[in-house]
Formats: sequence, C-alpha cells, structure tokens
Amino acid sequence: MEIFTHISDVKNYIHVKKIIGREIGFVPTMGALHEGHLSLIRASKNKELLTTASIFVNPAQFGPNEDFNKYPRPIEEDIELLKSVNCDVLFLPSVEEMYPEKAAVQMTMPLYTQKYEGEHRKGHFEGVMLVVAKLFNIVSPDVAFFGQKDFQQCAVVKQMVKDLSFPVKIEIIPTVREADGLAMSSRNRYLSAEERKKAVGIYQTLVYTKGLVQHEKNVENLIRHAYIYIEKFGFTQIDYIDIVQADTLQTLHIAEKENNPVMLITARCGTTRLLDNMYLYEN
Ligand code: PAF
Repeated sequence: MEIFTHISDVKNYIHVKKIIGREIGFVPTMGALHEGHLSLIRASKNKELLTTASIFVNPAQFGPNEDFNKYPRPIEEDIELLKSVNCDVLFLPSVEEMYPEKAAVQMTMPLYTQKYEGEHRKGHFEGVMLVVAKLFNIVSPDVAFFGQKDFQQCAVVKQMVKDLSFPVKIEIIPTVREADGLAMSSRNRYLSAEERKKAVGIYQTLVYTKGLVQHEKNVENLIRHAYIYIEKFGFTQIDYIDIVQADTLQTLHIAEKENNPVMLITARCGTTRLLDNMYLYEN
C-alpha cells in the first residue's frame, strides 16, 4: 500500500494511474477503522478500482464541545487493517496540510441539514462538505463509498455532488453490525461494558418498529411506540426518533412501502452519541 501525507504527492500518483486507464475508488474515513470501513474498501476492490482510503480527523466537522481531541487515532492498527484488505493507497494528511489556514469558503445546505444531526451538531455538515469536497478534488475518484449508518451524511454528500457537478458516483454500502445488531462505529470503543449492553437497544427498537409497520402505518403512533420501547434500555438521552422518506429526508405521516420510509434514531449512552437507521420495508 502506498502511503502519502502530502496533497501534491497523492495527486501526482493518482494522475499517473488515471493516464494509464485506472479508475479510482475512494473511501474517506476518520480512522479508528472497523469492519464497516473495511466493507467499503472491499466494495471498491470488488469493482477493480484503484482503491484509495483517506484517514483524516477533520477538525472542521467537530463542535467546540465535541470529541475532536479524544477521537481515537490508532494509526498503526489502521494501516495494518487497510493492508489486510489490499487497499492500494492511503492518504494521511496532517491538519496543517489540509488547512494551512482557516478555510474562507463556507458550504451550507439548509435543505438537508436543519434537522437531526445538523440540529444537534451545529456546523457539522458544513465541515463534512468542506472536507469531502476538498478530498474529492485531491483524489479525483470515479466512485466514492459511504456507509448507510450516517444516513443524513449520505444525503448531503449526494446532493453536494449533484449540485456542484463532481464527476464522481456515490455508492452507499449497508451498515455492518456486531453479532447482537449494534451498528459498527468508531465511537463504540468509548462504551463501558455496561453501556455496551444498553447500546443494542437502538437496533432492537428499529427491528421492533419494522415489525410493527406491518399493521400500523401511522408515523406518529409508530414513533410513540418506539419511544416507549426504547425507554427500557435506559439511554441517557434520546436525541431524536423519526421516520423519513429515504430520498428527501422529509418526515412522513404514513409509513407505506411506496414512500420508502427509513427510521432514524440517535441516542446517548453515557456521553457517547450513537446513530442508527433502518429501511422499514427492506428485507
Ligand atoms: O463519515 C466520516 O467518517 C466523515 O464524516 C468523513 C466522510 C470521512 C468526512 O470527514
């Protein structure tokens, strides 16, 4: 695996590969890699793309009271994991390389960022759009892979690519889960043994609602039942539970198959925020 820390070096390397006809698959990450990330690398490798991962803990997407400083950075472990799935290239820039000075450009997308993560993490998606746009310009991928777990992020990135005509195809890969159903996340490693047991409550609430939707289509009722169901797990706080139309993220009133409803849940387990989602009609 080739490892680059400088923008000019990774750009040159990819430029040469493109000239000889290679197509580039890109998996942007913040490191602390797990099976979820590796499934994105595998998806890219399966398409025979020259697979490039980036590891960059992007300060621009963390709020002042968030976990930027304590975000896990097990870089040696990450490199071994990437090698184990035959990742071709790793771009591993420093903060100074990515932001030699504070970016003057600000990216906003009110359409998709006023609710859910955008409401609870002010400025988060502005930071995500900035870094993803920058990374796309550096890596110039033909296909970029994102995990479904960050459902709202997927909608924001897809819209950004459409509006700004980035020549990249976005592929969304299903969430990878632990044996008990907990969605894999770099932040799961913050959970104590006690919190880890509770954490599965999010997945169980999604599955419960998916069962319920067979005979209850009223979204208000479904959400009320979900709040009652999740209570027993003892989360510190439920940030939101909602059912939205998958493509527009608009809240639904009736959860019918034709509307392609997705349930979004974010809850805090101790101080750790956990996100998950599920299509209510998919197998
Ligand atoms: O999903 C993530 O890990 C990050 O938001 C991303 C897309 C790598 C941008 O920093």
